[in-house]
Amino acid sequence: MSKSPVHRAADAPMKVHLNKGETYVWCACGRSSTQPFCDGSHQGTGIDPLVFEAEKEGDVWLCMCKHSGTPPLCDGTHKEICAIDKKLADAE
Ligand code: FES
Repeated sequence: MSKSPVHRAADAPMKVHLNKGETYVWCACGRSSTQPFCDGSHQGTGIDPLVFEAEKEGDVWLCMCKHSGTPPLCDGTHKEICAIDKKLADAE
C-alpha cells in the first residue's frame, strides 16, 4: 500500500456534467467511494476536499489521479504518472 496520503482513484479523468452556480465538493484524497466527489472518507488524512462552484453549465473532465496541478480539472498529469509506473514496471 502506498505511503502517500493521496490515493489515485483512477489513472484517467472522469467526464462530469456540471450545473452553473451549483456547488460541488471534489475528492482530493482519492478515498471517496462516490468519485470524483467527496464522501467524507478523507477524515483523519489531513487532506481536505476542494469545494468549488461551477461557473458555467456543461461537461468537464475532473481529475481522478488526484495529482492535477489545476484541481479539480485534469491537466494531463495522469499521463506522466502512468509513464513513470510503466518505466518502473519495465525495470522490474
Ligand atoms: S486525471 Fe489527474 S491530471 Fe488527469
